[in-house]
Amino acid sequence: MAKLKIFEYPHPILKQKAERVAKVDDDLRGFLDDMLETMYVAEGVGLAAPQVGVSKRIVVIDVSHPDEGEERAPMFLVNPEIVWHSDEQSCQFEGCLSVPEQRAEVNRYVQVRVHYLDYDGKEQEILADGLLAIALQHEIDHLDGILYIDRISRLKRQMLLKKLQKLRQEEEK
Ligand code: NI
Repeated sequence: MAKLKIFEYPHPILKQKAERVAKVDDDLRGFLDDMLETMYVAEGVGLAAPQVGVSKRIVVIDVSHPDEGEERAPMFLVNPEIVWHSDEQSCQFEGCLSVPEQRAEVNRYVQVRVHYLDYDGKEQEILADGLLAIALQHEIDHLDGILYIDRISRLKRQMLLKKLQKLRQEEEK
């Protein structure tokens, strides 16, 4: 397994609509393993392929809490699609590995049903709520070139990007 480079805002690949995957094969599984390792090292709960420079419809997610004694529960989703969502929405804080050390409140559906291909290329469907529902919506957005900061008010986005710029300037020193 290998750790991959994470592309950060405003890299243009993050704005692209990613392409569907034709086949789940060993090459793809190797990439899925690398994505998962990259996500764990970066301490994220989700990672989409465009974030590591690959414009394909692939997502890894793990919302388990190994620090609280839970076993890790990685999910691999190829060509994921939201096929149903609740009417109800909620507003929760989100962050993103491509927008380092920033957070903002984002509106998301409380429940979503997602269709996808798993690690073995088998069709799966999951009904999710809580953090998993948020992570699924956040990561599937990445596949359509949408970042969570695109879903907040312009004023909040400007403030957040200013903080990001400041952080980067400090890191350069
Ligand atoms: Ni993200």
